[in-house]
Amino acid sequence: MEEAVEVYMDDAAEIPCLYTFTQKPIMVMVQWFVRERDGRRVRISYGDLTMQKVDENTTYSDRISVSANNDGETLTIQDVKLSDEREFFCQVSGLAAGSDEGRTLLKVFDPPEPPIIEGVLSGVSVSSDSPAKVASCETRSGHPKPNITWYRDHIPIHPAIVNVVTLVTRESSGLYTVQSELQYKVAKEDKDAHFSCEVSYFVPGAVRTSESKGINITVHYPTTSVEMWKELPQGLVKEGDTVEMHCQGDGNPPAPIIFNREQSDAELVSNEGLLVLKDVSRVDSGVYECHALDLDEVLDTLQLTVHYLDPAVVVPKDSEVMLKGESLTATCNALSSLETSTVWFKDGAEVARGHIMHLHDATFDTAGQYDCEVTVPSLSGLVTSGSVHIIVQGAPEVKDADREIELMERVGVWVNLSCEVRGFPRPSVIWIITGSQTQSWREVAKRETEDHVHSVVMLKVTSDSVAICNSSNDFGIESKTYNIRSIPFLQTPTARKTSVDNSGVIIVVIIVSILLLAILGSVFYFLYKKGKLPCGRSGKQEILNAYSVKEKSNKEDIVVEMKPKKTEESEPLKAVNGEKKPPNEQNSALSSCEKA
Ligand SMILES: *[C@@H]1O[C@H](CO)[C@@H](O)[C@H](O)[C@H]1NC(C)=O
Ligand SMILES: *[C@@H]1O[C@H](CO)[C@@H](O)[C@H](O)[C@H]1NC(C)=O
Ligand SMILES: *[C@@H]1O[C@H](CO)[C@@H](O)[C@H](O)[C@H]1NC(C)=O
Ligand SMILES: *[C@@H]1O[C@H](CO)[C@@H](O)[C@H](O)[C@H]1NC(C)=O
Repeated sequence: MEEAVEVYMDDAAEIPCLYTFTQKPIMVMVQWFVRERDGRRVRISYGDLTMQKVDENTTYSDRISVSANNDGETLTIQDVKLSDEREFFCQVSGLAAGSDEGRTLLKVFDPPEPPIIEGVLSGVSVSSDSPAKVASCETRSGHPKPNITWYRDHIPIHPAIVNVVTLVTRESSGLYTVQSELQYKVAKEDKDAHFSCEVSYFVPGAVRTSESKGINITVHYPTTSVEMWKELPQGLVKEGDTVEMHCQGDGNPPAPIIFNREQSDAELVSNEGLLVLKDVSRVDSGVYECHALDLDEVLDTLQLTVHYLDPAVVVPKDSEVMLKGESLTATCNALSSLETSTVWFKDGAEVARGHIMHLHDATFDTAGQYDCEVTVPSLSGLVTSGSVHIIVQGAPEVKDADREIELMERVGVWVNLSCEVRGFPRPSVIWIITGSQTQSWREVAKRETEDHVHSVVMLKVTSDSVAICNSSNDFGIESKTYNIRSIPFLQTPTARKTSVDNSGVIIVVIIVSILLLAILGSVFYFLYKKGKLPCGRSGKQEILNAYSVKEKSNKEDIVVEMKPKKTEESEPLKAVNGEKKPPNEQNSALSSCEKA
């Protein structure tokens, strides 16, 4: 018989019993026994070569069967229970041929449930002297008794450095429940470690294992260092900023944090490691400390520098009077904790860089407001400005004063005369207009600023006249002269009907006409003298015709018109206005020809 037969619970177990005889027996009897808990042997089956019988009223009566073959028998047990783990005996008896007995231990296996792990909920302190419970592991209902081993990050924990308390419970069913408690002296590194347990158990012919999930544990450890840093603002700090300083210790749970200034016991108001300083000024500059209040007090420090830029101071202050031609140096300074940059502006345009501005050889253009702007290149947002008003004193300067202005204007026309003066103090402007007593003029515009006057007078031209714009102040006099030559109005009888507006044109036409008549007269005279022109009708007519055509093509509204003759007979010459002239007047030219 085999020493042992291994079988899963609820399966069927087969226990063979093989035998031989040295001399052939007359008959063979085989009996099967089991050992009861109290050590007694109880027969459960018997048989000989002719029959097999299961004993009645035993615990196996309805679960076993025996089968015989050439060299022995096999006992089959159905539906194996834990209680079947016992010794089975096979007793073979051949009377005179001899008898013997064998035994087999039936081993019953039932795998346990997978292990369940639980970590302690509260944190475990590294400072406790003895190992503390870290986790527990349980595996239920296994047979035979399973073992539990502990792992840290998948490496078995050597039992020597821990306490493992194992509790084995045998259930009424006979199955084992094993509980294991890991007691461990935690270190700070264990905060990141994973713990797991593994159950190992026997199955028929093998050892199996089953691992729990990993758990981490909360490790409490003291603060050994703190770190302090400025979160806001990024970069340099300037006055008016809101500063946020953080402080964090490396302990768990975090130790309370307090802030104070160096060499001051006064605790600053902060909240969970955050110190907020609103609207800082330069007096807030200095070293700040943060303390973590743990077993040992640890601290960190931070140097806070609040940068500033004071208001700009401009020298000369407010305003400064210069004489024309003078020079001046103005400065603009603003105290700052950082390097500054200064730019001067006049009327929005940059005029100088640097905190010193030189004004050379002042002119009236030099006058005005100079603004200086001081900035801090390394810290935008810091800016201040100042200004100085420069006044340039000097004698009046009249625009176009050096040039006499000649005007030719028709009589009766209104002309505008302009006079623009610069000077400080503001010059007075007086117009002195000489000429005819009946001269009529008035000032139509006067614009004045601090150092500038622009006066316009409207003057009616009546005769030749001189208009002087005389400007003066404490520093001198300067004037500007207009010479106005009047063009007299030409009075002709024929011009009376024309409007004043086109009188100029009429005058020109009259002059041209007189010239033409003079030329004509000269031609007549010349030809007469040479004897080429008979003083007859036809010749005179030709010339008159040609003349009148020319006139017509030139201008319709000429003062004198000589009507073209369509017929042989000449009509008397007419004036434009249609007035009939006495015949003697009309014929005067002809009579003069005759006379000539
Ligand atoms: C359980 O541990 C005991 C003692 O170390 C050992 O003899 C046995 O073989 C182990 N069982 C298993 C299933 O590993
Ligand atoms: C365990 O680790 C997870 C993630 O790694 C984390 O979220 C959890 O807070 C940890 N628990 C403990 C008790 O440390
Ligand atoms: C002269 O100045 C006045 C006022 O500015 C203006 O109304 C007028 O038209 C000007 N006359 C001439 C001829 O420019
Ligand atoms: C201009 O005015 C000043 C002061 O009022 C006077 O002395 C000067 O003679 C004047 N010049 C002319 C050309 O009238």
